[in-house]
Amino acid sequence: MWDAPHWLTMKINDYELYHDLLQRNSGLSLPPEKTYLLDSRLTPIARKWGYPTLEGMTLALRGIPDNTLVSEVIEAMTAKDTSFFRDMTPFIALGERILPAIIKAKGRRRELRIWCAGCSTGQEAYSVAMVLKDNEIKLKGWQVEIHATDLSAESLRKARTGNYTQFEVQRGLPISYLMKHFDELDDSWRLKDNVRNLVNFEQMNLLDSYDEVGGFDIILCRNVLGQFEERTRTKILSKLSEALNENGYLLLGLEEKPAPDFTALKPLDGTDGFYGRQDGKYDLPVPKVS
Ligand SMILES: C[S@@+](CC[C@H](N)C(=O)[O-])C[C@H]1O[C@@H](n2cnc3c(N)ncnc32)[C@H](O)[C@@H]1O
Repeated sequence: MWDAPHWLTMKINDYELYHDLLQRNSGLSLPPEKTYLLDSRLTPIARKWGYPTLEGMTLALRGIPDNTLVSEVIEAMTAKDTSFFRDMTPFIALGERILPAIIKAKGRRRELRIWCAGCSTGQEAYSVAMVLKDNEIKLKGWQVEIHATDLSAESLRKARTGNYTQFEVQRGLPISYLMKHFDELDDSWRLKDNVRNLVNFEQMNLLDSYDEVGGFDIILCRNVLGQFEERTRTKILSKLSEALNENGYLLLGLEEKPAPDFTALKPLDGTDGFYGRQDGKYDLPVPKVS
């Protein structure tokens, strides 16, 4: 049998440690070809914690690890990329087709509950809030809730401030929304309180139970599931489907589709990324021709 050199076996063992740690705590999948990320992302954390090398920190993580250190490792290994109105077309569908359909279907039950699951630094939830502002007149007298959750405490801290850099507002935010909903500060932009206060941010792990969060008319879980293994993805999709109200809508990232044998959801025609419950009735307005 080939005896692997010491440095290589060390790396394989380290890879397994981090793979399991991420799987257990956040569901994130670390494919072997991404092992190189461990060095670049975790070495600064090792230094911060006083370990001269990453191997030193890895050894400490093999014992009874400090919870704060584990959280920092997960934070560092998680992709948090986001932007306002990411992919744009789902937000157009939300304003032009999904909201009118919900308003019609609900009749006198004037309650709208939206959940942004895996909201990162808040741009997605605030984009939804701005679409709701566009529809303020139609939603007059409605009780509206936008619940936004993420595992990352650091991202949520930023999200709650509603403060964004010039670079962040340039990514996807139409200038008309910037002018209408943001105040310019010295070197950043701050979302006005009337939009900021529509969103309620909370820390939540998507691997945990959803019993406490209740039923939603719209759930967005975009560009989150792609980071999980198939089994975890399907488990989360099942729980999200169960958290949908009757005739509720689930919005996934444009590249993210349920497995072909996942039957709790059905794609909804002409609404990029929107899915409905298999037993739901969806009477969507015809798309506007531009
Ligand atoms: C790439 S961002 C997507 C943000 C936003 N949904 C979008 O599409 O722009 C993925 C987010 O999922 C979060 N996440 C990863 N694993 C999670 C878990 N187990 N529970 C909750 N959030 C998680 C990450 O912290 C990150 O903020």
